[in-house]
Amino acid sequence: TVTCGELRAAQIGKTVVLNGWVHRKRDHGGITFVNVRDRYGITQVVVDVDSAQELLDIANELRMEYCISIRGMVRPRPDTMVNPSMPTGEIEVKAENIQILSRCTSLPFMIDEYTDAKEDMRLKAENIQILSRCTSLPFMIDEYTDAKEDMRLTYRYLDLRSSSMQRKIRLRHEAAFAVREFLVGKGFYEIETPTFIRSTPEGARDYLVPSRLYPGKFYALPQSPQLYKQLLMISGFDKYFQLARCYRDEDSRGDRQPEFTQIDIEMSFVTRDDVLSLVEGMMGHLFKKTLGIELPKQFVRLSYDDAMNRFGTDKPDLRFALELVDFVPFVDDHCSFQAFHSAIKEGGAVKALLVPNKADYSRRQLEELDAKTKVYKAHGLAWMKVSQSNRLEGGISKFFSEHSRIIEGLGASPGDLILIVADGKKNIACSALGAVRSQLGKDLGLCDPDVFAFAWIIDFPLFEWNEEENRWEAAHHMFTMPQKQYHETLEADPGSVKGDLYDLVLNGYEVASGSIRIHDPELQKRIFRIVGLSDKEAQEKFGFLLEAFKYGPPPHGGIAPGFDRLVMVMAGETSIKEVIAFPKNSFAISPMDQCPSEVDERQLKELHIRIVD
Ligand code: AMO
Repeated sequence: TVTCGELRAAQIGKTVVLNGWVHRKRDHGGITFVNVRDRYGITQVVVDVDSAQELLDIANELRMEYCISIRGMVRPRPDTMVNPSMPTGEIEVKAENIQILSRCTSLPFMIDEYTDAKEDMRLKAENIQILSRCTSLPFMIDEYTDAKEDMRLTYRYLDLRSSSMQRKIRLRHEAAFAVREFLVGKGFYEIETPTFIRSTPEGARDYLVPSRLYPGKFYALPQSPQLYKQLLMISGFDKYFQLARCYRDEDSRGDRQPEFTQIDIEMSFVTRDDVLSLVEGMMGHLFKKTLGIELPKQFVRLSYDDAMNRFGTDKPDLRFALELVDFVPFVDDHCSFQAFHSAIKEGGAVKALLVPNKADYSRRQLEELDAKTKVYKAHGLAWMKVSQSNRLEGGISKFFSEHSRIIEGLGASPGDLILIVADGKKNIACSALGAVRSQLGKDLGLCDPDVFAFAWIIDFPLFEWNEEENRWEAAHHMFTMPQKQYHETLEADPGSVKGDLYDLVLNGYEVASGSIRIHDPELQKRIFRIVGLSDKEAQEKFGFLLEAFKYGPPPHGGIAPGFDRLVMVMAGETSIKEVIAFPKNSFAISPMDQCPSEVDERQLKELHIRIVD
C-alpha cells in the first residue's frame, strides 16, 4: 500500500503494507527492529515483545536481504528514537504480520559497505621475504581494483541494491526522460534505426553477426546510426533523435564500453550554430531537471588550434586555468639548451607551464609528471624553479643567462615552478604538456567536483595523417562537410582543410561530437578518394548513400552526445560502468553470465562457421 520511503507523522494510526528487503535487523531486549528497504527509502519496523509467537518466530528467522512483506500500524517513534536524518525518521511500523517472500543466502559482500570490506583486506606489512621471482606479466592478475570490480559485476544484481547504484541508475533514468521531454517539446521525432546493418568499418572495429540464411555473409552492429539518420533527413523527417545503442570493438578505457548509448540527433536546413544552440538548450534543461543546476545559456567556444595551444588537448578541463604558454621567445642567444633550438628548427614548439607556488615539488613528483609526457612520445619534461631571490635554479636553469627576462615574461614569482616540453612536432609538445596540465589539475585539487565546465571545440581539421598506414583519414567521419573556403583546394592540401565539425567537452571529457554533413554526391566522392577509397570501393560500401543523394537531399547536420559518458560526469564518477546497469568489465567480459561464451557445435554449423585454432 505504501513504499518504504513515504511514511510520515501524518499517516500515524494507518494500517499499511510494505514490501522490500531486510536492510538491517537488531534485537533490543526482546524487541526486534527491522529496517525494510526498497528503492524509495527505508522504514523501521518493530516487532514488539508481546507479539504473537508466530510473528516472533518469523522475526527471529529474518536475515539480511530477505525479501519480505509486512502488515502493520504506523505509530510515532519514542522521542529518543526520532531520527531527523531519515525521511521516515518520525515514525515506525508496528508489525502485525510478516511474510517471508524469499530468503537470501549469505552475501558475497555487504551491500553499501564493500568499501569497508576493502579496508579490512589491506594488511600491514611487517616482514617481506621473496620466495620466488616472476618475469613481467602479460597482464595484472587480480589487480586489486579489478578484483573488486569483478566481484561487483559477478553479483551486479546485488551491487545494484546499494544506495549509490540506486541513485546513479535513477539519475540515468531521469536524464533520459529530461532529454526526451526537451527534444519532443522542440518537435523532434524519436525514430528507431536498425541494429543489423551493413558492415562499414571506420574508426573502430565492427561487431559482426553471421547470417544463417546466407553462408559467409554477416550483419554488423552499428557503431552509430550515422548513415540512417542522414537518410531520414532525405525522407523529410527534419528533426530526428534517438537514444541509440551503439557497438564498437575497441580497446577498453574508463570512459568507453563496447556497447553504449548516444543521444543521436539530426536536423535539416541547419547551420552549425543552430545545432550548438539546440544542444545548449538541451543540456540546460537536463541539468536543471535532474541536478537542479543552472547552466550558462551559451557555452565557451574554442577553436581546435586554440585548445591545443592553450591546453594541449582537444578536450580541455576548463574548471581550472593553468594555460600552456609559448616559450619560443626565450629560446634565443641567451639559451644554450640545444634541444630547444632543434625543436624550433624542425618546425616544432617549445611550450611552458607556470605552476604557482610549487617550487617545492620533489624529484619523484617531477619524475611522475615526466612519465606522463612519455606517453605522447615526448623526449621529456624540463623544469626550473624560481628561487626566493627571484633567480631561476635547478633543472635546466644553467642553460639560460637572462633569468629576469624569463621570470618577467612568464609572470612568475619566487616559489613558482616552470615546466617545459619541446618537440620537433608541435602536436607532441602541446599534447605532452597538456597531459602534465591534466595531472596537475588532479594532484593540486583544482577540479571542483561541483562545477560543470562545458565548452565547444570548433574548426577541427577534417583529415588526420595516419602514420602507420601512410594515408589521410577522416578526423571525425567521412560525411563531414569541409568548410566552404576549402572546397576548391581539398586535394591539394588535405592537412590544412578545416571541417564544419564540433565537439562538446565537459570537465575534460568529450561528451558529444557532430558536424554539418555533405549532401552533394560529387563532394562526397572526392572525400572518399582523399581517404583512399577507390570509386569502386566507395560504390560497394556507400552506393546506397550516393544514390540517395541524387534525390533532392536537404542540407543537414547533427550531433551525438554520449549518454553514458555524460551521466558519468553528472554523477561525479570517472568510470562509465558506474552508470550502466549491466556493463562489461575492462576486458569486455560480463563476469556475471560469462559472456562472451562458446556456443555449441550445432549453432556453429547452422551459421556455417568453423573455429580455427
Ligand atoms: P563519435 O564517434 O564521436 O560520433 O561518438 C559520439 C559520442 O559518443 C560517445 N562515445 C562513447 N561512449 C562510450 N563508449 C564508447 N566506446 C564511445 N564511443 C563514443 C562520446 C562521443 O563524443 N555519428 C557520430 C556523431 C555525429 O556526427 O552526429 C559519432 O558517432 O561521448
